[in-house]
Amino acid sequence: VEPLSGSLGAEIYGVDLSQTLDNQTFSEIRQAFDENIVIFFRDQNITPEQHLAFGARFGAFDVHPFAAGLPEHPEVLPIVREADDTARGFGNGWHSDVTFYERPPLGSVLYAIESPSRGGDTMFANMCQAYDALSDGLKQTLDGLTAIHSAGDTYGAKNNATLRRGHSANKSMNIRYGDDAEAEVEHPVIRTIPETGRKALFVNRTYTKHFKGWTRAESRPLLEYLWNHAIQPEFTCRFRWRKGSIAFWDNRCTLHSAIADYNGQRREMHRVTIIGERPY
Ligand code: SIN
Repeated sequence: VEPLSGSLGAEIYGVDLSQTLDNQTFSEIRQAFDENIVIFFRDQNITPEQHLAFGARFGAFDVHPFAAGLPEHPEVLPIVREADDTARGFGNGWHSDVTFYERPPLGSVLYAIESPSRGGDTMFANMCQAYDALSDGLKQTLDGLTAIHSAGDTYGAKNNATLRRGHSANKSMNIRYGDDAEAEVEHPVIRTIPETGRKALFVNRTYTKHFKGWTRAESRPLLEYLWNHAIQPEFTCRFRWRKGSIAFWDNRCTLHSAIADYNGQRREMHRVTIIGERPY
Protein backbone atom coordinates (compact mmCIF):
# COMPACT_ATOMS: atom_id res chain seq x y z
CA VAL A 1 0.00 0.00 0.00
CA GLU A 2 1.81 3.10 -1.26
CA PRO A 3 0.47 6.56 -0.35
CA LEU A 4 -0.13 8.85 -3.31
CA SER A 5 -0.09 12.22 -1.58
CA GLY A 6 0.35 13.73 1.87
CA SER A 7 -3.40 14.02 2.27
CA LEU A 8 -5.26 11.00 0.91
CA GLY A 9 -5.03 8.16 -1.56
CA ALA A 10 -2.91 5.03 -1.83
CA GLU A 11 -2.06 2.63 -4.62
CA ILE A 12 -2.39 -1.05 -3.75
CA TYR A 13 -0.19 -3.58 -5.50
CA GLY A 14 -0.22 -7.36 -5.68
CA VAL A 15 -3.98 -7.92 -5.89
CA ASP A 16 -5.90 -9.41 -8.81
CA LEU A 17 -9.51 -8.24 -8.52
CA SER A 18 -10.71 -10.74 -11.14
CA GLN A 19 -10.21 -13.40 -8.44
CA THR A 20 -12.35 -14.04 -5.37
CA LEU A 21 -10.58 -12.33 -2.48
CA ASP A 22 -9.77 -14.37 0.59
CA ASN A 23 -10.88 -12.84 3.90
CA GLN A 24 -7.40 -11.73 4.91
CA THR A 25 -6.83 -9.86 1.62
CA PHE A 26 -10.30 -8.35 1.81
CA SER A 27 -9.76 -7.08 5.36
CA GLU A 28 -6.39 -5.55 4.39
CA ILE A 29 -8.06 -3.75 1.48
CA ARG A 30 -10.84 -2.55 3.77
CA GLN A 31 -8.25 -1.25 6.24
CA ALA A 32 -6.38 0.56 3.45
CA PHE A 33 -9.69 2.08 2.31
CA ASP A 34 -10.54 3.32 5.82
CA GLU A 35 -7.06 4.77 6.34
CA ASN A 36 -6.51 6.34 2.92
CA ILE A 37 -10.17 7.08 1.95
CA VAL A 38 -9.42 6.52 -1.73
CA ILE A 39 -7.50 3.49 -2.97
CA PHE A 40 -6.23 2.66 -6.45
CA PHE A 41 -5.34 -0.52 -8.30
CA ARG A 42 -3.42 -0.83 -11.58
CA ASP A 43 -3.49 -3.19 -14.54
CA GLN A 44 -6.71 -4.98 -13.64
CA ASN A 45 -8.74 -6.89 -16.23
CA ILE A 46 -12.24 -7.46 -14.91
CA THR A 47 -15.65 -8.24 -16.40
CA PRO A 48 -18.75 -6.39 -15.16
CA GLU A 49 -19.57 -9.52 -13.11
CA GLN A 50 -16.14 -9.43 -11.42
CA HIS A 51 -16.50 -5.70 -10.87
CA LEU A 52 -19.82 -6.33 -9.13
CA ALA A 53 -18.38 -9.23 -7.13
CA PHE A 54 -15.65 -6.97 -5.72
CA GLY A 55 -18.16 -4.22 -4.90
CA ALA A 56 -20.51 -6.71 -3.23
CA ARG A 57 -17.90 -7.37 -0.54
CA PHE A 58 -18.57 -3.83 0.71
CA GLY A 59 -22.37 -3.64 0.50
CA ALA A 60 -25.48 -3.48 -1.67
CA PHE A 61 -25.55 -1.59 -4.98
CA ASP A 62 -27.23 1.57 -6.08
CA VAL A 63 -28.75 1.98 -9.57
CA HIS A 64 -28.34 5.58 -10.74
CA PRO A 65 -31.81 7.15 -11.09
CA PHE A 66 -30.92 9.50 -13.96
CA ALA A 67 -28.00 7.96 -15.87
CA ALA A 68 -28.57 4.60 -17.57
CA GLY A 69 -26.53 1.57 -16.57
CA LEU A 70 -25.40 -1.29 -18.80
CA PRO A 71 -28.48 -3.04 -20.26
CA GLU A 72 -27.43 -6.42 -18.84
CA HIS A 73 -26.16 -4.95 -15.52
CA PRO A 74 -28.05 -1.75 -14.54
CA GLU A 75 -25.85 -1.41 -11.42
CA VAL A 76 -22.81 -0.82 -13.66
CA LEU A 77 -22.87 2.78 -14.87
CA PRO A 78 -20.86 3.50 -18.03
CA ILE A 79 -19.34 6.99 -17.79
CA VAL A 80 -18.41 7.93 -21.33
CA ARG A 81 -17.12 11.02 -23.10
CA GLU A 82 -16.75 10.48 -26.84
CA ALA A 83 -13.82 11.96 -28.76
CA ASP A 84 -16.05 14.48 -30.53
CA ASP A 85 -17.89 15.55 -27.36
CA THR A 86 -16.88 18.99 -26.14
CA ALA A 87 -19.26 19.16 -23.15
CA ARG A 88 -17.38 19.04 -19.87
CA GLY A 89 -18.67 15.58 -19.13
CA PHE A 90 -20.18 13.54 -16.32
CA GLY A 91 -18.30 13.88 -13.05
CA ASN A 92 -16.65 17.18 -13.92
CA GLY A 93 -16.85 19.65 -11.02
CA TRP A 94 -16.16 18.89 -7.36
CA HIS A 95 -18.90 16.71 -5.86
CA SER A 96 -19.65 13.56 -3.94
CA ASP A 97 -21.92 11.07 -5.66
CA VAL A 98 -25.71 11.18 -5.38
CA THR A 99 -25.90 12.90 -1.98
CA PHE A 100 -29.57 13.56 -2.78
CA TYR A 101 -30.30 10.06 -1.41
CA GLU A 102 -31.34 9.49 2.19
CA ARG A 103 -28.54 6.95 2.30
CA PRO A 104 -25.79 8.33 0.05
CA PRO A 105 -23.08 5.94 -1.09
CA LEU A 106 -20.36 4.43 1.03
CA GLY A 107 -18.25 4.64 -2.08
CA SER A 108 -17.85 4.06 -5.79
CA VAL A 109 -15.56 1.65 -7.61
CA LEU A 110 -14.52 3.20 -10.93
CA TYR A 111 -12.80 1.04 -13.58
CA ALA A 112 -11.04 2.46 -16.64
CA ILE A 113 -12.13 0.71 -19.84
CA GLU A 114 -10.53 3.29 -22.13
CA SER A 115 -8.48 6.29 -21.08
CA PRO A 116 -7.00 9.15 -23.09
CA SER A 117 -3.26 9.04 -23.76
CA ARG A 118 -3.03 12.12 -21.55
CA GLY A 119 -5.56 14.10 -19.54
CA GLY A 120 -8.81 12.88 -18.00
CA ASP A 121 -7.28 12.53 -14.52
CA THR A 122 -9.57 12.51 -11.49
CA MET A 123 -8.90 14.67 -8.43
CA PHE A 124 -9.99 13.81 -4.90
CA ALA A 125 -10.24 15.99 -1.78
CA ASN A 126 -10.15 14.86 1.85
CA MET A 127 -13.20 16.19 3.70
CA CYS A 128 -11.99 14.97 7.12
CA GLN A 129 -8.91 17.11 6.70
CA ALA A 130 -11.09 19.99 5.47
CA TYR A 131 -13.15 19.69 8.66
CA ASP A 132 -10.08 19.44 10.91
CA ALA A 133 -8.63 22.65 9.43
CA LEU A 134 -11.68 24.78 10.31
CA SER A 135 -11.59 27.08 13.33
CA ASP A 136 -13.25 25.87 16.54
CA GLY A 137 -15.83 28.64 16.15
CA LEU A 138 -16.90 27.60 12.65
CA LYS A 139 -16.85 23.91 13.63
CA GLN A 140 -19.30 24.72 16.44
CA THR A 141 -21.61 26.61 14.08
CA LEU A 142 -21.54 23.87 11.44
CA ASP A 143 -22.05 21.07 13.98
CA GLY A 144 -25.55 22.36 14.58
CA LEU A 145 -26.50 22.80 10.92
CA THR A 146 -28.45 20.60 8.53
CA ALA A 147 -28.19 20.95 4.75
CA ILE A 148 -30.78 20.33 2.04
CA HIS A 149 -29.55 18.22 -0.89
CA SER A 150 -31.31 17.69 -4.21
CA ALA A 151 -30.55 16.59 -7.77
CA GLY A 152 -32.78 19.36 -9.15
CA ASP A 153 -30.01 21.64 -10.43
CA THR A 154 -28.41 18.78 -12.32
CA TYR A 155 -31.23 16.48 -13.42
CA GLY A 156 -34.36 18.62 -12.95
CA ALA A 157 -36.76 18.84 -15.89
CA LYS A 158 -36.84 22.61 -15.66
CA ASN A 159 -33.12 22.96 -16.24
CA ASN A 160 -32.06 24.91 -19.28
CA ALA A 161 -29.17 24.13 -21.58
CA THR A 162 -26.76 26.24 -19.53
CA LEU A 163 -27.38 24.27 -16.37
CA ARG A 164 -27.03 21.04 -18.30
CA ARG A 165 -23.74 21.97 -19.87
CA GLY A 166 -21.81 19.90 -17.35
CA HIS A 167 -23.25 16.73 -18.82
CA SER A 168 -22.63 15.19 -22.18
CA ALA A 169 -26.23 14.02 -22.11
CA ASN A 170 -27.08 14.09 -25.79
CA LYS A 171 -23.82 12.80 -27.17
CA SER A 172 -22.10 10.34 -24.90
CA MET A 173 -24.46 9.16 -22.18
CA ASN A 174 -28.07 8.31 -21.71
CA ILE A 175 -29.25 10.85 -19.08
CA ARG A 176 -32.86 11.39 -18.02
CA TYR A 177 -34.23 14.69 -16.69
CA GLY A 178 -37.39 14.79 -14.58
CA ASP A 179 -39.39 16.56 -11.91
CA ASP A 180 -38.53 13.78 -9.45
CA ALA A 181 -35.00 15.26 -9.33
CA GLU A 182 -36.40 18.14 -7.26
CA ALA A 183 -36.98 15.87 -4.23
CA GLU A 184 -35.05 17.12 -1.21
CA VAL A 185 -33.25 15.28 1.59
CA GLU A 186 -31.64 16.56 4.77
CA HIS A 187 -28.13 15.69 5.91
CA PRO A 188 -25.95 16.98 8.73
CA VAL A 189 -23.31 19.43 7.48
CA ILE A 190 -20.76 17.58 9.58
CA ARG A 191 -20.97 13.80 9.60
CA THR A 192 -19.07 11.10 11.47
CA ILE A 193 -17.40 8.20 9.69
CA PRO A 194 -18.38 5.13 11.76
CA GLU A 195 -15.23 3.07 11.14
CA THR A 196 -12.76 5.76 12.22
CA GLY A 197 -14.85 8.15 14.35
CA ARG A 198 -13.48 11.02 12.26
CA LYS A 199 -15.69 13.98 11.42
CA ALA A 200 -16.07 15.12 7.81
CA LEU A 201 -17.47 18.18 6.12
CA PHE A 202 -20.45 16.95 4.07
CA VAL A 203 -21.51 19.61 1.55
CA ASN A 204 -20.85 19.69 -2.18
CA ARG A 205 -21.39 22.22 -4.94
CA THR A 206 -23.44 19.89 -7.16
CA TYR A 207 -26.15 18.71 -4.80
CA THR A 208 -26.16 20.85 -1.62
CA LYS A 209 -28.75 23.59 -2.10
CA HIS A 210 -28.92 25.44 1.20
CA PHE A 211 -28.89 25.12 4.98
CA LYS A 212 -32.16 24.04 6.57
CA GLY A 213 -34.10 27.12 7.70
CA TRP A 214 -31.89 29.43 5.59
CA THR A 215 -32.69 30.68 2.08
CA ARG A 216 -30.42 29.81 -0.84
CA ALA A 217 -29.18 33.41 -0.94
CA GLU A 218 -28.40 33.37 2.78
CA SER A 219 -26.65 30.01 2.54
CA ARG A 220 -24.59 30.78 -0.54
CA PRO A 221 -21.71 32.79 1.00
CA LEU A 222 -20.98 30.22 3.69
CA LEU A 223 -21.38 27.30 1.27
CA GLU A 224 -19.03 29.01 -1.20
CA TYR A 225 -16.51 29.44 1.60
CA LEU A 226 -16.74 25.75 2.53
CA TRP A 227 -16.62 24.48 -1.07
CA ASN A 228 -13.50 26.54 -1.77
CA HIS A 229 -11.92 25.70 1.59
CA ALA A 230 -12.38 21.96 0.95
CA ILE A 231 -10.47 21.82 -2.34
CA GLN A 232 -7.21 23.45 -1.28
CA PRO A 233 -4.31 21.62 -2.94
CA GLU A 234 -3.08 20.43 0.48
CA PHE A 235 -6.28 18.39 0.91
CA THR A 236 -6.16 16.72 -2.53
CA CYS A 237 -4.59 14.03 -4.65
CA ARG A 238 -4.71 13.51 -8.40
CA PHE A 239 -4.92 10.12 -10.12
CA ARG A 240 -3.68 9.49 -13.63
CA TRP A 241 -5.65 6.73 -15.31
CA ARG A 242 -4.46 3.92 -17.55
CA LYS A 243 -6.63 1.24 -19.11
CA GLY A 244 -7.30 -1.25 -16.30
CA SER A 245 -6.87 1.23 -13.44
CA ILE A 246 -9.43 1.24 -10.61
CA ALA A 247 -10.25 3.92 -8.04
CA PHE A 248 -12.41 3.16 -5.01
CA TRP A 249 -13.27 6.24 -2.96
CA ASP A 250 -15.06 6.76 0.32
CA ASN A 251 -17.89 8.97 -0.88
CA ARG A 252 -18.75 9.94 2.71
CA CYS A 253 -15.58 11.93 3.26
CA THR A 254 -14.19 12.85 -0.16
CA LEU A 255 -15.06 15.14 -3.03
CA HIS A 256 -13.91 14.29 -6.54
CA SER A 257 -13.82 15.88 -9.97
CA ALA A 258 -13.06 14.41 -13.40
CA ILE A 259 -10.88 16.82 -15.38
CA ALA A 260 -12.18 17.50 -18.92
CA ASP A 261 -8.87 18.24 -20.63
CA TYR A 262 -8.76 15.58 -23.38
CA ASN A 263 -10.87 16.87 -26.26
CA GLY A 264 -10.44 14.67 -29.33
CA GLN A 265 -9.91 11.49 -27.29
CA ARG A 266 -12.38 8.99 -25.91
CA ARG A 267 -12.70 8.07 -22.22
CA GLU A 268 -14.87 5.25 -20.89
CA MET A 269 -15.19 4.19 -17.27
CA HIS A 270 -17.50 1.73 -15.48
CA ARG A 271 -18.78 2.73 -12.05
CA VAL A 272 -20.30 0.52 -9.37
CA THR A 273 -21.76 2.43 -6.42
CA ILE A 274 -22.26 0.94 -2.96
CA ILE A 275 -25.02 2.20 -0.67
CA GLY A 276 -23.88 3.70 2.63
CA GLU A 277 -25.46 4.40 6.02
CA ARG A 278 -27.70 7.33 6.82
CA PRO A 279 -25.29 10.21 7.66
CA TYR A 280 -25.13 11.20 11.33
C1 SIN B 1 -17.76 10.30 -11.14
O1 SIN B 1 -17.97 11.43 -10.77
O2 SIN B 1 -18.25 9.34 -10.58
C2 SIN B 1 -16.86 10.05 -12.33
C3 SIN B 1 -15.47 10.43 -12.07
C4 SIN B 1 -14.59 10.19 -13.26
O3 SIN B 1 -15.08 9.86 -14.34
O4 SIN B 1 -13.37 10.32 -13.12
